[in-house]
Amino acid sequence: MTAPSAAEIARAAAVLRSGGLVAFATETVYGLGADARNPDAVARIFAVKGRPQDHPVIVHIPGIEYLERWAREVPALARALARGFWPGPLTLILERAPGVPDAVTGGQGTVGLRVPSHPVAQALLRAFAGEEGAHRFDGVAAPSANRFGRISPTTAAHVRADLGDEVDVILDGGACEVGIESTIVDCSRGEPVLLRPGRITAADIARVSGVAPRAADREAPRSPGALESHYAPRHPLRLVAAEAWDKTLAGIRSRRAVLSLREQPAGDASVLWIRMPTDPARYGHDLYAGLRALDGCDCELILAEAPPPGPEWDGIRDRLCRAATEA
Ligand code: TXA
Ligand code: MG
Repeated sequence: MTAPSAAEIARAAAVLRSGGLVAFATETVYGLGADARNPDAVARIFAVKGRPQDHPVIVHIPGIEYLERWAREVPALARALARGFWPGPLTLILERAPGVPDAVTGGQGTVGLRVPSHPVAQALLRAFAGEEGAHRFDGVAAPSANRFGRISPTTAAHVRADLGDEVDVILDGGACEVGIESTIVDCSRGEPVLLRPGRITAADIARVSGVAPRAADREAPRSPGALESHYAPRHPLRLVAAEAWDKTLAGIRSRRAVLSLREQPAGDASVLWIRMPTDPARYGHDLYAGLRALDGCDCELILAEAPPPGPEWDGIRDRLCRAATEA
């Protein structure tokens, strides 16, 4: 992978301006981007993904200085989190400013905002906004660049495999460093609410904002996307508690593929055994590529070992639970 040249970035920004779709690397997962001000372009994202139209989509902005353009009010809590973690793998939900296009909010009163740190994402966003940010709502609407319900892409090859030539440009920035989607914190309710765990943990949020975030209540989701099994592989996936691992493995006769923290025992008959890193950051980096490899092999069942307890594993546990089709 060679980093996209300045000319390639400029061309991608021009494609966005003319209503096209650009898939681009971020530090979390690859995004499928469109001009956030252009409802037709945003509608194309949904069409390509096969995603329901009323879902809100994250708006990617070049820097914290763009925050006020999009948010009606920036509470101290949100400002502290933005200062502490941007650019980086954090999305803030804020009350939207007047005029923010409905296409990106799904008609809700809030907007999701993120400043990614990946140099390719940064270069694209800056090129798109121009030197000073010519327009008020300069920003790139981008969900993950996968088909609805599939595993998020963490390499340009994943994007190509999922979306092929339905995207106008793919900006290759190598394998995503974080590997799982951004942490989402709703700051529109007077207290921080954690809508999606990620590399930035609840403890990190508490440390920087001074308030421990509340977990999202399941009855009143404001993040429709948080409900679906978003990360589902094609083969059934069973999440197995560490204590039950040996016994479960011994009892399974079907052709299985394995995602585990352990080494494959000698003589083990699994079709594929992926040994995952014991460091949560490295595990996150490898997770989706691992799930794709398992999904691509000729098995009847994927067995995944539940990650250890501890908040630094919350994001990974969340993704594995969503991927699981059986208990
Ligand atoms: O790491 C990431 O966040 C990646 C990269 C590309 O930035 N993006 C991503 O987007 O994961 P997506 O669309 O796959 O997930 C965005 C989540 C969805 O669950 C959506 O419902 C939620 O963010 N969301 C967006 N705007 C929202 C809003 N105004 N209120 C509540 N939830 C919102
Ligand atoms: Mg997604």
